[in-house]
Amino acid sequence: MLKSTLIKATEAGAQVMQHYFQGQFTVSNKEGINNLVTEADHASEKAIFETIKKDYPDHYLLSEEAGEIVMDSNIKWIIDPIDGTVNFAHGIPICCVSIGVEKDGEMILGAVYNPFMREFYFAQQGFGATLNDKKISVSTESRVIDSCLVTGFPYTYLDQPNGPIEVFSRLIRKGVPVRRLGSAAMDLCWVAAGRFGGFYEHKLQAWDSAAGFLMVQEAGGRVTDFKGETYSPYQPQILATNGKIHDELLGWVNNTLGPLQP
Ligand code: IPD
Ligand code: CA
Ligand code: CA
Repeated sequence: MLKSTLIKATEAGAQVMQHYFQGQFTVSNKEGINNLVTEADHASEKAIFETIKKDYPDHYLLSEEAGEIVMDSNIKWIIDPIDGTVNFAHGIPICCVSIGVEKDGEMILGAVYNPFMREFYFAQQGFGATLNDKKISVSTESRVIDSCLVTGFPYTYLDQPNGPIEVFSRLIRKGVPVRRLGSAAMDLCWVAAGRFGGFYEHKLQAWDSAAGFLMVQEAGGRVTDFKGETYSPYQPQILATNGKIHDELLGWVNNTLGPLQP
């Protein structure tokens, strides 16, 4: 039942995205520069809420635009009504709905749907991850230099040692391909599907990663913070890989590898 509501809610949000995509919609700015929210983000959120509330009026909701709807429930829905809003606002079809379902503090279900690429990702704790109902698994490279990576950048510049630009530059200067798609949920799903060997980002919110991190774990990958410790979507850093390159990529991010080989 939870699963079917999750699928319905994800599809409802995606239908709204399709309705507005490349059409007319209002766009406004949130905190930071080019941290956009559109009419479509709000409409997608509304459609998702309506679908969940119809089946589960008492569940806890955490969603990017509406914030927290606190309820006395052990089930929490963590919702990003459009992940990749800047892409969406510019008509770039790399964006999606992302919803994770947490039970007693553990992520048990995740769904990510990009209706423009017709890619529906689904994960269930202990049962693996699928793309359009076909099982997916992470890639097999065992060295960072042989992998294609992906990252993202926060809306406000993080001026700190080993910040986003410094890590990006370290990898690029040594010839490691690092992409920037603009949707953390897609980034994670593409790690799960074996397209990217790894993804890291310095500052995410719970709704960006809730569904995607479960996708990577269920596809056989590993997800931690930058210390290599158990991942929680309630802290900002994420490093998600095929598992094989995980410790090495932690070294690249933290700059603890010593002089790097060309
Ligand atoms: C953003 C995207 C982006 C990431 C940002 C997120 P939004 O989410 O996931 O890839 O780099 O940190 O905030 O604003 O499009 O929902
Ligand atoms: Ca997001
Ligand atoms: Ca969003």
